[in-house]
Amino acid sequence: MQGLQDKVVIVAGAATGLGADSARRLAQEGAKVVVGDLNAEGAEKTAAEINAAGGTAVAAQFDISDDDSVKELIAVAVATFGGLDAVHINAGDMGAVSKDTNVVDIDLEIWDRTIAVNLRGHMLVSRHSIPELLKRGGGSIVFTSSVASFAGQPQRPAYSATKAGINALARHIASGWGKDGIRANAITPGLILTDEIKQGAPPKMLEDKLRETRSTRLGEARDISSMVAYLMSDDGSWINGQVVNVDGGTYLR
Ligand SMILES: NC(=O)c1ccc[n+]([C@@H]2O[C@H](COP(=O)([O-])OP(=O)(O)OC[C@H]3O[C@@H](n4cnc5c(N)ncnc54)[C@H](O)[C@@H]3O)[C@@H](O)[C@H]2O)c1
Repeated sequence: MQGLQDKVVIVAGAATGLGADSARRLAQEGAKVVVGDLNAEGAEKTAAEINAAGGTAVAAQFDISDDDSVKELIAVAVATFGGLDAVHINAGDMGAVSKDTNVVDIDLEIWDRTIAVNLRGHMLVSRHSIPELLKRGGGSIVFTSSVASFAGQPQRPAYSATKAGINALARHIASGWGKDGIRANAITPGLILTDEIKQGAPPKMLEDKLRETRSTRLGEARDISSMVAYLMSDDGSWINGQVVNVDGGTYLR
C-alpha cells in the first residue's frame, strides 16, 4: 500500500482478534502503531510481537467506554510519536453478545454495556481523534462494524443497533469533515475465523456459514486487516463515507 510509511496510527481494541491483526498489518506497512485495549496484557503482547518483527508499536491500556481514558489514549499517540494520522476503531464487548437475546428479554445492563462500548465508545474515540487528525491536515478513521448492521436477525438487537450506529457515524464524519481531509469508512465483516472463533465455534455452524457465502472458504483476520490498510492508505484516498462489506459474498448489496 502507498503512503502508510511512518504514519501514526491508533488501533483501539487491538489485544486480540481482528484488532491485533490490523495492528500487525499496519506496522508491516511501516506505520507507527499505538496498540490500545482494556486488556493490558494482550495489548503488550501485540506490541511486543510487532517490535520483535522489526516494526514500531507501543501498548496503551484504555477503556473505550470512559471519556477520560479515551483522551489519554489519543495523548499517548501524540506524546510518543508526535501526532496522529489514522485510527482503527475496533473494540467490541464480545462477552455481552451471548446475552444479547431480543428486545423483550434482554437484560438492560447488557443493552447499556453494549451501547457504551460498541457505539458510545466509538463516538468518543472519533471525537477526540478528529482535532488531532485536523492538525496534520486530515486523516483516516476506519470502524469495525458488522454485517449485523443491515442483515436483520432475530437475536443480538443491541449488537446490531450499535453496528448500524457505527455506519451512521462513519457517514456523519465523512460529511462533516471530508472537505478538511478526513475520511471515515466502516467495514462490515462477515464471520471471521479469529483464534477464539476457531476454538469455540461448533463445526456445524461453520459449515452453515460457509454455505451462505459465495466463496470457497470462510473469512480470516487478514481479509479485514488488508481492507483496513487499504482504506487508510493513499490507495484508498478517494473512498469516504462508505460501508464496505467484506464477507465472501454472503450479502450482495
Ligand atoms: N470475528 C468476527 O467474526 C467479527 C465479525 C463482524 C464484526 N466483528 C467485530 O470486530 C471487532 C473485533 O472482534 P473480534 O472478533 O476480533 O473479537 P475480540 O474480542 O478478539 O476483539 C475485541 C477487542 O476489544 C477489546 N475491548 C473490549 N472492551 C473494551 C473496552 N471497554 N475498552 C477497550 N477495549 C475493549 C477486547 O479486549 C478485544 O481486544 C468487534 O467490533 C466485532 O464486533 C467481528
